Amino acid sequence: MTRLGILLSGRGSNFLAIADAIAHGKLPNAKIAVVVSNKADAPGIAAARARGLAAHVIEANGRKRAEQDAEILACLREHEVELVCLAGYMRLLSPEFVAAFPQRILNIHPSLLPAFPGLDAQRQALQYGVGVTGCTVHFVDEQLDHGVIVLQRVVPVMDGDDEAKLSARILEQEHIAYPEAIARVLSGQYSIQGRRYVLRTQEKNSVSQEVQ
Ligand code: GRF
Repeated sequence: MTRLGILLSGRGSNFLAIADAIAHGKLPNAKIAVVVSNKADAPGIAAARARGLAAHVIEANGRKRAEQDAEILACLREHEVELVCLAGYMRLLSPEFVAAFPQRILNIHPSLLPAFPGLDAQRQALQYGVGVTGCTVHFVDEQLDHGVIVLQRVVPVMDGDDEAKLSARILEQEHIAYPEAIARVLSGQYSIQGRRYVLRTQEKNSVSQEVQ
């Protein structure tokens, strides 16, 4: 059983999608060990409590990032977390935090990275005029919205889309993508080659293609 630690700052719909996937047996090897919010009023943390999960608020309170992160790390360790899932966590992690969980921190971003990193990705996509956008689940490294991509789902931009409509359609796909990406990581059936996440089956295929 892999113990997940969820970090969030707000609504928490991706957290709930992960929790529902576990409840419905879609992630049989995963358990949510703890949910941490850096905002006391985050609806996501209330939802975690309502589900009877261990839920902690760890706010910055004017502290430096490294200090707040050290407290969060201690909390994750106390709950024996093995895989960290950022689910709308609106604060950059310190290098110390990233180093504490090498390739064991996932994030979801509402665009097809590397397009439109940072805030308001859906608005950026609309303003740029792209025909397709989507969502990306990736490992977290020290740069914003940058680590190795585990999975992406594509969402077309429709005539008449505004930010709210497009965001809602992307969010539906996020709720599918995140549990699927966690399943991929928990399967352990992959390697990371440079920036590429490579499934073991694909590795074998590429080897056998080379042999032929
Ligand atoms: C999602 O759009 C996610 O991609 C982004 O922040 C938003 C969080 O939404 N990182 P929720 O709190 O999971 O509902």
